[in-house]
Amino acid sequence: MSQRSLVLLKPDAVRRGLIGEIIGRIERKAGWTITALEMRELDQETLEQHYGEHKGKPFYEPLMGFMQSGPVVALVVEGERVIEGLRTLAGPTDPIAAAPGSIRGDFGTIVRENLIHASDSEESAVRELKIFFPGLS
Ligand code: RTP
Ligand code: MG
Repeated sequence: MSQRSLVLLKPDAVRRGLIGEIIGRIERKAGWTITALEMRELDQETLEQHYGEHKGKPFYEPLMGFMQSGPVVALVVEGERVIEGLRTLAGPTDPIAAAPGSIRGDFGTIVRENLIHASDSEESAVRELKIFFPGLS
């Protein structure tokens, strides 16, 4: 089942020089392809659309600030079961709880600064791809 997912390399990943490391892991998964890629800064409005489900939660405002603290790299990744697979590659939200071998488990310690976003369902992927790559057919 070929799918598309929206990935963001968060500002901490860019600042720490981990773009190549993380993209390399994605590229090395057999049959997955990066079909769009852009480095950009995110404004409040874009982030409110992207993380709207978390509005009102205690971590929401700090998350908004963190995600605007520097550029991110946005990617479209396509391939077999890529939505589930990228969540596995990323590891769970809390990097301390994430297994070594996962991106968050290998490189993170702080929950907010967990390096990567990946769409959590087909529905989220469709919604998020429209926000970040509106020209995509
Ligand atoms: P993401 O949406 O970025 O892929 O991450 P996720 O699904 O693993 O986690 P989610 O619950 O959607 O949370 C979104 C992002 O908010 C930050 N966060 N901070 N307790 C906290 O301080 C806290 N909880 C969440 C993280 O950056 C998380 O990835
Ligand atoms: Mg999420």
